[in-house]
Amino acid sequence: MLSNKQQIEEANREVEKIKKEVEKNHWRLAYHLAPQANWMNDPNGFSFYKGEYHLFYQHHPYSPEWGPMFWGHAKSRDLAHWEHLPIALAPSEDYDVDGCFSGSAIEKDGKLYLMYTGNKWTGENRDTDLKQVQCLAVSEDGLTFEKIKENPVMTETPEGDIHPYHWRDPKVWQEGDYYYCILGSKTKDEKGQVLLYRSNDLISWEFLNVAAKGEGNFGFMWECPDLFRLDDQDVLIMSPQGVHPEGDLYHNLHQSGYILGTLNYETGVLDHGPFELLDYGFDFYAPQTTIDDKGQRVMIAWMAMWENEMPEQEFRWAGATTLPRILTLNNGKMVSEPAPELKALRQNEVSFENIKMDKELQLTGIEGECIELRVTIDAKEASTFGLKVRVNEEENEETLLTYQVEEETLLFDRNRSGKGPGGVRKAAISLRDNRLQLHVFIDHSSIEVFAQGGEKVMTGRIYPSEKANGISFFADQEIVIVSVEKWEMKQAFVEGPTNNVGGMNV
Ligand code: FRU
Repeated sequence: MLSNKQQIEEANREVEKIKKEVEKNHWRLAYHLAPQANWMNDPNGFSFYKGEYHLFYQHHPYSPEWGPMFWGHAKSRDLAHWEHLPIALAPSEDYDVDGCFSGSAIEKDGKLYLMYTGNKWTGENRDTDLKQVQCLAVSEDGLTFEKIKENPVMTETPEGDIHPYHWRDPKVWQEGDYYYCILGSKTKDEKGQVLLYRSNDLISWEFLNVAAKGEGNFGFMWECPDLFRLDDQDVLIMSPQGVHPEGDLYHNLHQSGYILGTLNYETGVLDHGPFELLDYGFDFYAPQTTIDDKGQRVMIAWMAMWENEMPEQEFRWAGATTLPRILTLNNGKMVSEPAPELKALRQNEVSFENIKMDKELQLTGIEGECIELRVTIDAKEASTFGLKVRVNEEENEETLLTYQVEEETLLFDRNRSGKGPGGVRKAAISLRDNRLQLHVFIDHSSIEVFAQGGEKVMTGRIYPSEKANGISFFADQEIVIVSVEKWEMKQAFVEGPTNNVGGMNV
């Protein structure tokens, strides 16, 4: 079997070979992280190390489909500009031969440690025939990683009502004298739960407890947990698989959300409140957070959903991450706002104020396929109003963001967005002073809508034709566009001096 280093070199060459071709695709994103070629899923190892943000991701460098997982890698100094780096991990050892699955990163003694799940298939059935273990890799420069000789550092699940094979996605953090690690898991009868461990050296781990467990409609497995303190609350983020739709909620295959509470670090139990979603759109999964030198809790998620059609696969790439979002709490609810650092990508502002309108209106210069848009609308007496974006009349394409006053609901409708899956998602949102504020990021094949200052967010991939750049406002009765601001967004990816692939400077 090829070593980790040899596999990485070979995989980097493969990506390098086709990346220029991939770049030509008009759905390529300008300011979101996507693999240079082939497949990505979860963000991994999101961390702030030696003054830079590092973001890794589940990566299959050999096809635009999921396969044996590598860790792709990118970094940023400011959360706005990013640089692709060589692949960080390859499935090279007996214990991770079928994939270096998701995990996290932590700095210890000046080194960056990656903690991840080694996956190995033991038979044909991907649900029952697997062996998962937890592993570490370490780097002194944040660029090349060595798997440690003590691997795997966790080999068997603990005793109790814990499924023996499905435990994965370690998130590690430091609190007081210890390192803690939380893992996604399920009970033997298929209820999602998370396992909490403690260590003083990252290598030998003591199981503390099942920190939280799902009852009722809470899924058969919890993936990708993250646990951190925000104000006076402990926050557990996780991605439950198999939650059934309830009213307007849970219409995606899997969900991602949070519970708030208090973690007792001695007993290992999280006393918590109800589950809330982190995003009400179509494409948001496996979010992960880190804390930076400004004390900001930053979250990034996979901007896709398992088993959805991904039209970009035809162009030899698949998947992307969301924008970095800053998490804060307001009255016991999570608020997610786009990182303020993203303002560095703005250019060519166009703005209008105080425009009365009804029916439909287009404003000169308010258009685009790679833009940021901030809109405040006074609903007046209208019962429904909103925005059409990525409009191409010739092709009958449009993506609708519609507010329904009586229902107090924002609708994101991608049934006529172009290629790819359609559907409508709904988020419950109230007007404030009779106004709706939307902050919308459009990037070639994605939309993220932050409503009422990040109280609710809706994210989706859309695949319109290249010419679909129109925007229009609509209302069934008079409304006032109190303000609208639009910026074009610059390309966020820079070729850096560290972009040294397969031993060559490119
Ligand atoms: C979540 C997930 C993780 C796993 C990884 C494998 O999307 O299923 O639980 O570690 O993807 O790629």
